[in-house]
Amino acid sequence: MAHKYVLRDMDDEEIKRLHFQHHVWQTETQTAIDKANILPGDRILDLGCGPGYLCMDLLNKVGPKGAIYGLDSSEKFIHFLDQQHIPNVHPIQADIRDGFSNKHTDLAALHHVFCRWVFIFLGASDSVIKNIFDVLKPGGKFVSLEYFDFNKIAMSPPTPSFDRVFEAVYELLIRAGGDPDVGGKMADRMEAIGFRNIETIPIQKSGTANSPYWQLMEQTNHNHKNLVDSGLITQKELDLFYTDWKRNASIENAYVTSPPLMITTGEK
Ligand SMILES: C[S@@+](CC[C@H](N)C(=O)[O-])C[C@H]1O[C@@H](n2cnc3c(N)ncnc32)[C@H](O)[C@@H]1O
Repeated sequence: MAHKYVLRDMDDEEIKRLHFQHHVWQTETQTAIDKANILPGDRILDLGCGPGYLCMDLLNKVGPKGAIYGLDSSEKFIHFLDQQHIPNVHPIQADIRDGFSNKHTDLAALHHVFCRWVFIFLGASDSVIKNIFDVLKPGGKFVSLEYFDFNKIAMSPPTPSFDRVFEAVYELLIRAGGDPDVGGKMADRMEAIGFRNIETIPIQKSGTANSPYWQLMEQTNHNHKNLVDSGLITQKELDLFYTDWKRNASIENAYVTSPPLMITTGEK
């Protein structure tokens, strides 16, 4: 099935944005990595790896005897990762929904599967979680990082145009078959598939005007044109959002708060 990344087209700006996003969320990502107890020589799948920034952190943990498989449907992202020819990083272009567990012989008896900001586009699909279970070795760990309670995203001072845009982002994700609240559902779905020792860590992030988190949010602002194209907001509403954003950026103590992120881990 052809997959379209709903947030924006696969341009170089998105590769840069994902790099910055990786940097801004480094501490939280490290918390998730630490939960996995990765050992040198481990073999890990990064599902929906994008351009592969998390793959690099994982590679540092497994060392030269380990292997990182980065699977993503985006030709652009997989090409970007491939052309770097990083030893022990193996890019795979595939749609996660196409049953990766029995299509790629390397994807078997893995020590870990990581998946960050991907189920938000898929929903808590039992068949995908079952595929993850199948590619793990007994005792292997699945580590998921996904937003939940998406509508908790907020700007201070309260800004109705901001709320309007993010209600539309929520709706866009739902229309595309995703689930912006999926992080709160992963633990139950994982348990139903057979994972055990499931643990959850909820995290929320805020940043004052012009902080790194604020800048990251600002980088996504021009993506919101697709909300107008989809008929979810009007151009006038988007223009008001841009005006309010600019004004808030000059207000001391203005801040943005992310949707909460759930780190969910489970063992096969
Ligand atoms: C927000 S990006 C996150 C990338 C990466 N996981 C990270 O944390 O930097 C979402 C990624 O999921 C990928 N993706 C979404 N749906 C997919 C699907 N059905 N199959 C494979 N990849 C998918 C997109 O191509 C994109 O690279």
